[in-house]
Amino acid sequence: MSEETPTSETLANLLKENRRFEPPAELAADANVKADAYDEAASDREAFWAKAADRLTWDTKWDKVLDDSKPPFFKWFTGGKLNAAYNCVDRHVENGKGDKVAIHWVGEPEDDTRDLTYADLKREVSKAANALASLGVATGDRVAIYMPMIPEAVIAMLACARIGAPHTVVFGGFSADSLASRLDDCNAKVVVTSDGGYRRGSPAALKPAVDEALTKTDVVEKVLVVRRTGQDVEWNDDKDVWWHDVVDSASEDHTPEAFDAEHPLYVMYTSGTTGKPKGILHTTGGYLTQASYTHWSVFDLKDDDVYWCTADIGWVTGHSYIVYGPLANGVTQVLYEGTPDSPERGRWWKIVQEHKVSIFYTAPTAIRSFMKQGPDVPGRFDMSSLRILGSVGEPINPEAYVWYRHVIGGDRTPVVDTWWQTETGAMMISPLPGVTAGKPGSAMKALPGIDADVVDDEGNSVPNGSGGYLVVSSPWPSMLRTIWGDDDRYVDTYWSRFKAKGFYFAGDGAKKDTDGDIWVLGRVDDVMNVSGHRLSTTEIESALVSHPCVAEAAVVGATDADTGQAVVAYVILREGVDQGEHIEKDLSDHVRKEIGPIAKPRSIMIVPELPKTRSGKIMRRLLRDVAEKRDIGDTTTLADSSIMELISAGQATSTED
Ligand code: PRX
Repeated sequence: MSEETPTSETLANLLKENRRFEPPAELAADANVKADAYDEAASDREAFWAKAADRLTWDTKWDKVLDDSKPPFFKWFTGGKLNAAYNCVDRHVENGKGDKVAIHWVGEPEDDTRDLTYADLKREVSKAANALASLGVATGDRVAIYMPMIPEAVIAMLACARIGAPHTVVFGGFSADSLASRLDDCNAKVVVTSDGGYRRGSPAALKPAVDEALTKTDVVEKVLVVRRTGQDVEWNDDKDVWWHDVVDSASEDHTPEAFDAEHPLYVMYTSGTTGKPKGILHTTGGYLTQASYTHWSVFDLKDDDVYWCTADIGWVTGHSYIVYGPLANGVTQVLYEGTPDSPERGRWWKIVQEHKVSIFYTAPTAIRSFMKQGPDVPGRFDMSSLRILGSVGEPINPEAYVWYRHVIGGDRTPVVDTWWQTETGAMMISPLPGVTAGKPGSAMKALPGIDADVVDDEGNSVPNGSGGYLVVSSPWPSMLRTIWGDDDRYVDTYWSRFKAKGFYFAGDGAKKDTDGDIWVLGRVDDVMNVSGHRLSTTEIESALVSHPCVAEAAVVGATDADTGQAVVAYVILREGVDQGEHIEKDLSDHVRKEIGPIAKPRSIMIVPELPKTRSGKIMRRLLRDVAEKRDIGDTTTLADSSIMELISAGQATSTED
C-alpha cells in the first residue's frame, strides 16, 4: 500500500455539502424494504440472510447459513444445493411468466432490436448448455466469454451456470495479450466470442483478438463464434465452431443439475496492486442471494418495472446487475449494444423513452459527459417513466448527483449511490430509496445485513466527522471466496492489513460525516479508477517497461474532470534511444496493445529520473502533485531532492494529448 490517505482538502470540500433529498412519499409508503430492515438484520444477521436466500429456489435447503470455522475462507449456506440458471430463467416460466419480456435488446444500428421472453431465454439457454456439453465442457471446466453486448453473451453465461462450468467474461475492450493471460490463468477450455459488434456506427472485430490470443496460449480447445456483424473472419477448422451450427441445432431440453451452494459460479479478473490481474472467485448460493436481494431492495423493484443497467457484461456490474440479480428477480430489462452517442447524442434517452425505462443504473463518468453536453440533449425526450436512478463505479461528485436527479430524473427520482467492488460481488453501502434521505455524494450507510466501517491505521473505528480506511467487519454472502489458484494472495491482499481485527480491507479511503454517513473517497492503494474502470499502476508500468525503448516507468492516476482519474505516465528511456517525435505515441500504442484502449495514458512524459525514497520506492504522491499541477508536497524523504525540479520543469513544457 502506498503512503496516501484521503486528502484533508477533499474532506473539507465534502463537508460543505448539506443538501438532502427525502424519499418520495408514495415510494416510501410502498417500498419493498423499510427502515425496520436495519433492526431486523442487526438483531440476527444470519436469520436476515437466510430470509433473503429463501427468495431463491433451492433443490436442497442449507444446513448452516454461515460457516466461519476457517476465516477468511468463509462459506455460506453450506449443504444447500441450487442451480443459478434455473433460478434466473426456468422458475419464472414455471411460475407463469414465460411470456414476460426478459430482455429488450437494442442493437446499435437503429431498428436492430430483439425481444426475448423468459420462455425464449429458457429455450436458448438450454440449447446453449447442450451445445457446450457437446463441445466437451463438463461441470467444473472454465469457459471464457469475450463478446459484445448481445443476447448471446447473457445466454452463454447462463448456459455455463446451468452446467456448472464457471465462466470468465473478459471485457471486449481488452487486448489479445490481456485475453491470453486470463485464458491461461484459469485454463479456459472453450472461448465464446463473435465476429464482432457494432460500435460508433461500424462493425468492430472481436474474433481476430481471440485468434491472436490463441497463438500465445494452447489451453483452449474450441472457439464458439456468434455471427453478429457478418464481417469476414479467419477460420480454423480444428477449433472454430459457429454458434448457429451447434446451438441452433441443439435440443431445447436440458435438465439443470443442482450444485452445491459453494460451487464456483464465475471468475472475474480485476486489477490489483501488482502487474498480474487477480481472478476473483464467486460461488453460487451466497452470491445469488445478495445480488438478487440488493437488486430488489436498492432499486425497490416492482413487477412492472423496466430496468436498464448500462454497464458492460465484461465487468462485475454486468454480472450482478444485468445477469444474476435482475434475472433471478424476473425483471424486464433493456440490454444495449453500443455507445451512448451513436448515431446521436440522445441515444440513451431515446431508449429510455421508447422502452419506458423506470430504473436506470449507470456510472458517474457517463453522467459527467452528459452534463458537458447540456440539458437540451436529454430535454428532447420524455423520461417521465423514470422513478429510480442508480450510480456505481466511482465516487459521484455532488454536482453530478444533483444534475442526474434534476435533469434526468425530473427531481422526482431518488438517486442511489451504490458502493461495492468486484470482490464484494454485490452492493454493500447504499441508500434505500424508500427509507434514506439522500445526500449528494454520499453512499450513506451499509445495507441491512452488512457491517462496514471507517477505521484508522490500527483498525479502530474513527469518530464521526473523520476519515480513514473503509473496511467490512463481518463476512457477507456474496463475498469473494479466494483469488483463483492463489489462496495466499487472497489472504495477503484483503485480510492482512487489519488481521488482528479480522476485517476485510477494501482498498478505499472514506469519511464518516457528523451523522455517521459514509462518503467513499477513492482508492488509497496503487489502483486507479478511470471512467469507472479499474486499472493498476503497476500493470501499466509493466506494459511500458516491456517496450524496448523504456528503462523505467511510473504511472499515477491524476484527478480528471471527465473520467474521475486519468493515467499519467512518467518514463525514463534507455540510454542511447533517440527520443524522436513519435516516442510518446509509440508508447501509448504499446500500452493499448498490451492491455487495451482503456489503459491508454492521457499523457506520457519523458523524464531523466524518477522521484524515489532512499530505499528505492517510487514516490507516486509527488508525481501526482505534478500531474495535477499542485504545489509539490513534502520531499524530505527523496533520495535526490533536485529531481522534482527537473520533472516539474519538463511538465510545464509538455502538452497533453
Ligand atoms: O474505489 C471504489 C470504486 O470502485 C472500486 C471497485 O471497482 P470494481 O471492482 O471495478 O467494481 C466497480 C463496480 C462495483 C471501489 O474500490 N467504487 C465503486 N462504487 C463506488 C466507488 N467509489 C465511490 N462510490 C461508489 N459508489
